[in-house]
Amino acid sequence: MQQAFVPAGPGRARVAVLISGRGSNMAALLAAAADPAYPAEVVLVLANKAGAAGLETARAAGVATAVVESRGFKGDRAGFEAAMQAELDRHGVELVALAGFMRVLTEGFVFSWFGRLVNIHPSLLPSFPGLETHERALAAGVRLHGCTVHLVSPGVDEGPILAQAAVPVLADDDADSLAARVLAQEHRLYPAALAWLAAGRVRLEGGRALVVADGAQGALANPLP
Ligand code: GRF
Repeated sequence: MQQAFVPAGPGRARVAVLISGRGSNMAALLAAAADPAYPAEVVLVLANKAGAAGLETARAAGVATAVVESRGFKGDRAGFEAAMQAELDRHGVELVALAGFMRVLTEGFVFSWFGRLVNIHPSLLPSFPGLETHERALAAGVRLHGCTVHLVSPGVDEGPILAQAAVPVLADDDADSLAARVLAQEHRLYPAALAWLAAGRVRLEGGRALVVADGAQGALANPLP
């Protein structure tokens, strides 16, 4: 069994959060990491758009920010990722958390960060990878919907699942009301799952991630209610 992330020492793991927009999940991670007992610190918020609203939130919280404009690298994903990697290196980043980051990463980048690269997706994977998950969940008539935090493998919204939270789909839901119910769970789930990873509690077995139990919390992969 392989350990996904092995902490370098007793200090907190150095995390970069990658965003493209609003950054509410990033804000949830910053809030969790404001507690010195949290096993990770956010040392960098990196956006691929200068206009990403979350950058302001990060600056206001006193966190270092960087912008690598993906627009400037049209057709040159490797160049874009090399520029991102340079920022990650400059800040001594050990773990990368994608939080509404709207660029597909190359296999090379994903493999080089495997086990140390996480994503949050607004569905119960493997159902509804990709975009417009809430619309598709409503159209499919599912009774349960939710969100997933997973290690990133090559392939969109693929990789070993760390944690999931489920919410009911109500009869009068529209995509906005359902998205809001899921988002509230995202903000609880992502800090919990990142903490497990940062603390070195995630093991990989076959294609699955196992969270090493630490009392009740380790068994509690779904934090509802
Ligand atoms: C979230 O729903 C997340 O699951 C998805 O993109 C959205 C980003 O929202 N990957 P925010 O920028 O974190 O507010």
